[in-house]
Amino acid sequence: MADMPMRNIVILTGAGISAESGLATFRASDGLWEDHRVEDVATPEAYARDPALVHRFYDARRARLHEVEPNAAHLALARLDAEWPGELLIVTQNVDDLHERAGAKRLLHMHGELNSGWCLACDGRFAWVGPMGEEAECKVCAAHGMVRPDIVWFGEMPYDMDRIDEALMNADLFVSIGTSGAVYPAAGFVQTAKYRGAQTLEINLEPSQGSIFFGERRYGPAGLEVPKWVDEMLAGADAE
Ligand code: OAD
Repeated sequence: MADMPMRNIVILTGAGISAESGLATFRASDGLWEDHRVEDVATPEAYARDPALVHRFYDARRARLHEVEPNAAHLALARLDAEWPGELLIVTQNVDDLHERAGAKRLLHMHGELNSGWCLACDGRFAWVGPMGEEAECKVCAAHGMVRPDIVWFGEMPYDMDRIDEALMNADLFVSIGTSGAVYPAAGFVQTAKYRGAQTLEINLEPSQGSIFFGERRYGPAGLEVPKWVDEMLAGADAE
C-alpha cells in the first residue's frame, strides 16, 4: 500500500472494531440490536413515544462500558495516532469510549457518545456517568427531565461534518474499519476521499455493502488485521 508517500490519513470505524471487546454490532443476522428493533430505541420518534424504554436501553449500554476493555485494534489505532507524523483523524460511528480509553486523541464521535448528555432546554452538552433516566438534571441550566442521551439517532444530523469533510478533502489515505457501509453519510466517505484522489482501504470481517469502492480490501477480525496494518504503516513512515 505504501507506493506513494502518505501523510494525511482519515480512519472511519464502526461497530465491528468493538465486537472483539464484547459489544454487539447493529446488523447481526437476527436483525435485532441487543433485543430491540433499532427504530424502537434509536429515533427521535421512539424517544417521544416511550422515553423510559429509550433511557433504559442507553442506561444499560452505558453501564456495559464498565465491563469491556479496548481490544488490540483500538490499541493499534491509538499507537498510530501517537506516532504517525502526518495529519490523522479517527472518525468513529461508535458511541462507546473504547478509542479514547485506548489512548486515541485525534478522534471525533460523529454519532455522539454514551458518556454525554444533551439538554433539550438549554442545548448544553456535558459529560455523563451512570444512569440518566427520565428525570436527570442538566449540568448547565439545572432543568429537570430535559436531558437525553447525546446520541445521533436516525433522522438526525451527525456531528462535526464540516471537520470531517475537510479532513476527507485533504486525505491521502482513507481507511474504513468494521463498518457495514449501510448508514450515510459515513457510507459515502470512501467516495468523497476517492474523488479527491485518496487511496482507500477496507478492513472488515467480510465485504461491506460498499466494498467495491475500495482500492484495497483486507478481510478478517479487526483485532488481527488492524495491528498488522498499523505495523506496516509505521514501518513505512520510519523508512521515509
Ligand atoms: P454494523 O453492525 O452495521 O456493521 C458492523 C460491521 O462490522 C459488519 O460489516 C461486520 O461484518 C463487521 N464486523 C463484525 N465483527 C468484526 C470484527 N471482529 N472485525 C472486523 N469487522 C467486524 O455497524 P456500523 O457499520 O457501525 O448509527 O453501523 C453504522 C451505524 O448504524 C451505527 O453507528 C448506528 C447504526 O444504526 C446510529 O446509531 C446513528
